[in-house]
Amino acid sequence: MPIPLIIDTDPGVDDAFALALAAASPEVELIGVTTVFGNVSLENTTRNALRLLALLGRDDVPVGVGASRPLVHPQPHLSSAHGSDGLSGYAGTLPEPTRGPDARDAVTLLRELLDAADRPVTVVPIGPLTNIALLLAAHPHVKAKIGRLVVMGGGVTGGNVTATAEFNVWSDPEAARRVLVEEDVPTTLVPMDLTRRCAVAGGWLAELAGTSEVAAALVGLTPDYLATYRRFLGWDGMAVHDAVAVAEAVRPGILTSTAFPVDVDCSFGPNRGALVVDRRLEVDAPKELDIALDADLDGLRAFLFDRLGALGARQ
Ligand code: RIB
Ligand code: CA
Repeated sequence: MPIPLIIDTDPGVDDAFALALAAASPEVELIGVTTVFGNVSLENTTRNALRLLALLGRDDVPVGVGASRPLVHPQPHLSSAHGSDGLSGYAGTLPEPTRGPDARDAVTLLRELLDAADRPVTVVPIGPLTNIALLLAAHPHVKAKIGRLVVMGGGVTGGNVTATAEFNVWSDPEAARRVLVEEDVPTTLVPMDLTRRCAVAGGWLAELAGTSEVAAALVGLTPDYLATYRRFLGWDGMAVHDAVAVAEAVRPGILTSTAFPVDVDCSFGPNRGALVVDRRLEVDAPKELDIALDADLDGLRAFLFDRLGALGARQ
């Protein structure tokens, strides 16, 4: 039986690869997508999610529109590594969706899908955690239906938007603390320390583009993002952060995780939005998260290529 999967997302180039991986993987049944502000505005992330699902032949998947801003404090302005439209300026190359978002907002859609599920659902937040924090605050009963959260976010040894904060957590630190620290839902956190190590090379992308028209369209969304990551990484590659998190949802254990207590810095100091991981040997903490810190990197890239390279066959 496939694992029911819901992805909460702010597409986003790497979000696009994550959605494609979910659509290409028979181990999971993508039952819903919810959108959140983040890489670009909620209007753009929602339009991008609808267009990506149209590209993937998945107009059957409902899209619930979520939060347009963080829980408490505004997200500081940042020019997006994903281009002004969130997809390197190429959102317009994707098929126009034949449907709009679901009549239900993100929290309502999440609640109804979870209530209706006949087996535990994996929820994969790959943007700011605002929608998930709102869901758990408004409908705590749904925690019984969430098999696990697999969250892309945080940086254990450093950040990407500041020296210590990773973008998803930095965008709404209060929501991240609510979900990662205060709530008691089984959670695997996939931090940027690992996702950066899973970056794919320009040649990998070029080869993937040759496998199908859908894969070519996906790779066609990468130019701005790839250019940014060439600078970040210092070599011809780009991080597919969110696809690494979805890979863990599709194939549990593909990443190697270790349990640590965490906190999130919600101060207004230089470390606002930083993930604080307590790696002391003797610590008595109320909650620990499984934090993915290692993987067979070549094996993971081969898995991603194998799945994304079969996209054309599944359309
Ligand atoms: O820091 C990486 C995360 O921020 C990814 O989810 C990317 O899409 C951006 O949202
Ligand atoms: Ca994202």
